[in-house]
Amino acid sequence: MIAELERAAEALRNAKSVVVLTGAGVSAESGVPTFRASDGLWEGHRIEDVATPTGFERDPALVWQFYNARRANVAAVQPNPGHVALSKLEDRFTDAFTLVTQNVDGLHLQAGSRNVLEIHGSLRETRCLGCATVENRGLEVLGDRPLCPRCGARLRPNIVWFHEMLPVVIWETAQLAAAGCDVLLVVGTSAVVYPAASLIPIAKSTRARGATIIECNLTPTAVSAEVDIGLYGPAGETLPALLAAL
Ligand code: APR
Repeated sequence: MIAELERAAEALRNAKSVVVLTGAGVSAESGVPTFRASDGLWEGHRIEDVATPTGFERDPALVWQFYNARRANVAAVQPNPGHVALSKLEDRFTDAFTLVTQNVDGLHLQAGSRNVLEIHGSLRETRCLGCATVENRGLEVLGDRPLCPRCGARLRPNIVWFHEMLPVVIWETAQLAAAGCDVLLVVGTSAVVYPAASLIPIAKSTRARGATIIECNLTPTAVSAEVDIGLYGPAGETLPALLAAL
């Protein structure tokens, strides 16, 4: 592990441009549950019921209850040392740093990260099904059938559900950053959900040399065989250790 940490630090020291891809694992130590529990349920719900457009059509009140509970959970937690280490890493690279997150909890921004691409949306945002306005409502609980204050139409969470497209401009920006980076740091994701996980092959293959891929996860994952350096342990410990080794 110490040798891997030193190799990772060396790759970062030599990098001009860095992209980080994070998933639920980076927030696990803050107390936000990860997704892929062994029972296939998501906090007691089937994913089809609470995280698909058809689930929302069928029972919007259930979906809002689910997301209000997630908003309340996030309102009660704080960024952990892993989030903080990533915000300090950005200070080192300034403009040549992009943090792409699959998380909707906003904890990277709360920890001080600035160039954050929330490719799966945000728990804090609502989107109007009538006038399409996206609004940041913070983490206030919104009731079972919230309506747009502008046009009166129904609101939905501004979250990318299964079977939906990623926000086009945000996703294109993420792909461009991955294609041009020297190091891609992949933190706390099972890397089985696409297109997010495709940032790994994009970073590896777009440039002649390819980026160095560093994985930080509790355990090896589906992509571990393809990464160059693996740091296995809680991200709240490995990321501060990596920063300290720079
Ligand atoms: N430190 C590092 N990694 C951790 C930690 C930790 N403390 N705790 C858990 N992990 C790792 C797990 O080993 C796992 O690989 O985090 C990963 C979490 O994986 P998932 O639950 O699948 O989460 P994620 O990869 O973010 O899911 C992607 O799927 O459900 C959709 O849209 C949702 O954005 C989400 C996407």
